[in-house]
Amino acid sequence: VQKGRVLDARTAASKASLSVFVYRFDPDKKDNPRLDHIKIDRDKAGSMVLDALMYIKAHVETDLTFRRSCREGVCGSCAMNINGENKLACIEPLSSYRTLTLYPLPHQPVIKDLVPDLSKALQQYADSKPWLRAPKEPSLKAERRQTPEDRAKLDGLWECVLCFCCSTSCPSYWWNSDTYLGPATLLQSARWVSDSRDQEKRERLQEVEGPFSLYRCHTIMNCTKTCPKKLNPAKAIQGLKNALVKDKLPCRKRKDR
Ligand code: SF4
Ligand code: F3S
Ligand code: FES
Repeated sequence: VQKGRVLDARTAASKASLSVFVYRFDPDKKDNPRLDHIKIDRDKAGSMVLDALMYIKAHVETDLTFRRSCREGVCGSCAMNINGENKLACIEPLSSYRTLTLYPLPHQPVIKDLVPDLSKALQQYADSKPWLRAPKEPSLKAERRQTPEDRAKLDGLWECVLCFCCSTSCPSYWWNSDTYLGPATLLQSARWVSDSRDQEKRERLQEVEGPFSLYRCHTIMNCTKTCPKKLNPAKAIQGLKNALVKDKLPCRKRKDR
């Protein structure tokens, strides 16, 4: 990445400044990617990293492009690499940083500036059929009930906001994203395999099983370290591997006959 422009947007009344280095890339121009250095007043930047980006877009670089929607940490769209770690910009306090260096999520094609192309990861997620698969109708058209204990098995899984911070921090996913499903999609598979109402647990396990699709996870743990929702995709992947082993045990097969 080339050194880019230096833009000083500080005012004379500024008490403290914030330096923001931001990745810029526009595929419609022939220029190489660059890293712009923007100086702004810290007291005008707002409280979160996303606020600082919105201030820059409104007052300094109006063509800066990034994704955001909820600004509450629930839509997953503002995921980016902040000072070397994948995070959600809207829930990342600015007070933790003296300077900011912002890149798009790593190892994905870049659409523009801080916007990565997540089409492949989203397709893998869609292919996992992430909805309740329950072809048998419940008796007397009653609702599909779940005990509190079974519902509790989904905790730590349902909270995923599909930001893909985990998958894009995983070296196995960097090198094999065409075949390895990655921690975000595998955590979602684990979520449905753990759901007592789902009737296609075995089919789901067979769908994820494979030397590349599942077993390319080598327990590197970057996914769990980086997850901004404090989830544990590595544990969820291990849960899928354990469930596959249990599903293949001879005693389980006899019981199912
Ligand atoms: Fe994002 Fe965490 Fe879900 Fe991965 S597991 S997609 S990091 S919320
Ligand atoms: Fe990658 Fe996490 Fe496994 S970082 S290798 S998915 S434990
Ligand atoms: Fe929705 Fe950040 S804007 S998670």
